[in-house]
Amino acid sequence: MHNIYLDHAAATPLHPDVFEAMVPHLKEQYGNPSSLHSYGRAAKIALDSARDLVAAQLYCSPNEIIFTSGGTESDNLAIMGIVAASKRQPAHVITTQIEHRAVLSTCQHLEELGHSVTYLPVDKSGLVSIDDVRKAIKPETVLISINYGNNEVGTLQPIEEIGLLLREKGIYFHVDAVQALGKININLLELPVDLMSLSGHKINGPKGIGLLYVNKNVHLKPNIFGGNQERKRRGGTENLASAIGFSKALEMAVFNVNKNQKILNDLRSQMIEGLKKELGDHGFVINGHPNQRLPHILNVSFKQMNKETLLMNFDIEGIAAASGSACTSGSIKDSHVLDAMHLSPELKKGAIRFSFGLNNTKKEIEIAAKKVGTIVNRLRNK
Ligand SMILES: Cc1ncc(COP(=O)(O)O)c(C=O)c1O
Repeated sequence: MHNIYLDHAAATPLHPDVFEAMVPHLKEQYGNPSSLHSYGRAAKIALDSARDLVAAQLYCSPNEIIFTSGGTESDNLAIMGIVAASKRQPAHVITTQIEHRAVLSTCQHLEELGHSVTYLPVDKSGLVSIDDVRKAIKPETVLISINYGNNEVGTLQPIEEIGLLLREKGIYFHVDAVQALGKININLLELPVDLMSLSGHKINGPKGIGLLYVNKNVHLKPNIFGGNQERKRRGGTENLASAIGFSKALEMAVFNVNKNQKILNDLRSQMIEGLKKELGDHGFVINGHPNQRLPHILNVSFKQMNKETLLMNFDIEGIAAASGSACTSGSIKDSHVLDAMHLSPELKKGAIRFSFGLNNTKKEIEIAAKKVGTIVNRLRNK
């Protein structure tokens, strides 16, 4: 059986060129970048080159990059670090109801510490209203954290407009762009954003590496205390091989962004057309914004269906897809994103996320749509 992987929003395969770039730093160049001898100096030069490359791709300064262990740590550092450094105590933070758990759980932790958080609603398509952002601002607001492109339904937020509003008000703006990286153009010289979280394993890079961009005018307190690494903003020996791999993956993702956008959009459209052929135009509902969206995510509700049953049957047929948040028990909770979008219980119950990647072929999508259609029809007729 041919396995078809349609869960690239969760993780992507490592690109062979990324692997090649990492190997010397795993095998021969094992020095610690903080050591003063030749091994250490070589490692430091390599780390600096990774930082320079990343900064050049994002149009920022190398000093504005903090390498982290991934998107989750970057989100934590941005939010906790800004609040800890703020003169306004207790502080107020604004975010949305559809953020990734890395942001929502950090905000809940802030509340436990006595700070306050506003969780902005979204409309039916997952969009935040700028008016709601404006109205939520208080004198003690220090930070707004908003996802660039949602990881479940793909809706893109009006980041530029929100950023311009916040510049006027002197409030820091953090953007989680983990899903957007490599899918849309990101230029930090032009984008009115103060902090941005990125992750390696969503762009054919390694897992366990990410970064937080922190604008040079922004002061933040560390979250991990230790040595003087990352200009005293994140202690711990740097993950050199992964930083090299991440920089290589990021370079390729940025260089090919327009081409890749089209490839992913085409795969997504083909999947929709294939599903229509199998199930009819009304056999499923697409969730998320119809055009303000990421190219690689397709969230679909199959009426009268249960997502756990669907995912299990897809898996038996070799198709790897996903739904909202998986529980530790193995069962699947209703997605907080679809809840916030006020989907009906029936649509929430049967919601599946297919996410496409650069390794997917048209043939795979043709097979996947056919298999999904057959499974849905079979279960419906039971
Ligand atoms: C939007 C978003 N933010 C943060 C994360 C967490 O990133 P990481 O897995 O690198 O910790 C993810 C991962 O799925 C994500 O999609």
